[in-house]
Amino acid sequence: MGDLILGIESSCDETAAAVVESGKRVISSEIHSQVAQHAVYGGVVPEIAGRSHLEKILPVVDSALSAAELKLEDLDAIAVTQRPGLIGSLLVGLSTAKGLSFVSGVPLVGVHHIEAHVYAANMPLDEDPWPCLALVVSGGHTSLYIARSPLELEPIAETLDDAAGEAFDKVAWILGLGYPGGPEVARLATEGDPEAIAFPRYRSKDGSVGFSFSGLKTAVLYHVRGGDALAATPAPEDILDRADVAASFEEAVVDSLVDQTLRAAKEHSLERILVAGGVACNRRLREVMQERASRAGLSAHFPAPEWCTDNAVMIAGLGWERWRAGELADLSLDASPR
Ligand code: KG4
Ligand code: ZN
Repeated sequence: MGDLILGIESSCDETAAAVVESGKRVISSEIHSQVAQHAVYGGVVPEIAGRSHLEKILPVVDSALSAAELKLEDLDAIAVTQRPGLIGSLLVGLSTAKGLSFVSGVPLVGVHHIEAHVYAANMPLDEDPWPCLALVVSGGHTSLYIARSPLELEPIAETLDDAAGEAFDKVAWILGLGYPGGPEVARLATEGDPEAIAFPRYRSKDGSVGFSFSGLKTAVLYHVRGGDALAATPAPEDILDRADVAASFEEAVVDSLVDQTLRAAKEHSLERILVAGGVACNRRLREVMQERASRAGLSAHFPAPEWCTDNAVMIAGLGWERWRAGELADLSLDASPR
């Protein structure tokens, strides 16, 4: 038996716990999603999130341990998301992890949520990918990092405005689809023509690597308003080319993400690319990134789709790296929204 790490995640709207062996092998994973509770509001409501975490955290941790047939004392470390995220939500996971560590004497490790997303893309690999380029695409982030090791991420570019996932969510709203929007837009896109509408791709004026999605989102809005910016947004059933809008929008996002990522890889002479975060679930992104990377002599790696969105497997994975690097926390560990 290798090293056993319990991961706990509560930074946004999933309450999750998992046991992972030596940063690779998933022994158990439990996720309670709050999506249904937030869907009516079209986004995450922090107060509802905090309360729901409080109700679910202990049952979720319990299930993860019993599915793994382990007791607290069998663990080598307890890893918990410490930042970034909603402060009230983070605190629930953090105080739970501290309590469990205190009563059991099992060491506590604090984990950075974004670094953990990146780590998820490393977990299926047989060989270490470091140093590599990492693209994190989620509802809150669209950023590129040079990952020198699992614990050393240097930011090199980020979106000027909306995150890619946020753009998917907003376009879903314009098209009258459900929340979260990414999977719904992706589903509708399979019925449309990605070349039907020439939506804009952002390029920075000075030619540096970067992302921006607010212009694209506005272009979608103008398109469905028939080119009249001041017109009312039509009812979803009156948008006759909905599937084409979804497909062309998705293609524009994918194109921008792949373009900028490959440019950054070339600029920094990095041969391997890790892509992570909720938008990394997107099939078209996975396809195009892999194909264009391999044509450029590079390789692109994604987590299994279930570990792209928020989960505790990635927290336990990266927690193992911190634990074996001796980076332990004590009970003064604090949560931070940033
Ligand atoms: O990583 P994540 O679960 O939460 C954050 O930390 O933000 O990412 C959620 C985001 C949402 O914006 C959602 O619409 C998007 O990921 N997403 C997708 C897909 N699945 C989830 N976007 C595009 N295509 C998908 N298949
Ligand atoms: Zn996340």
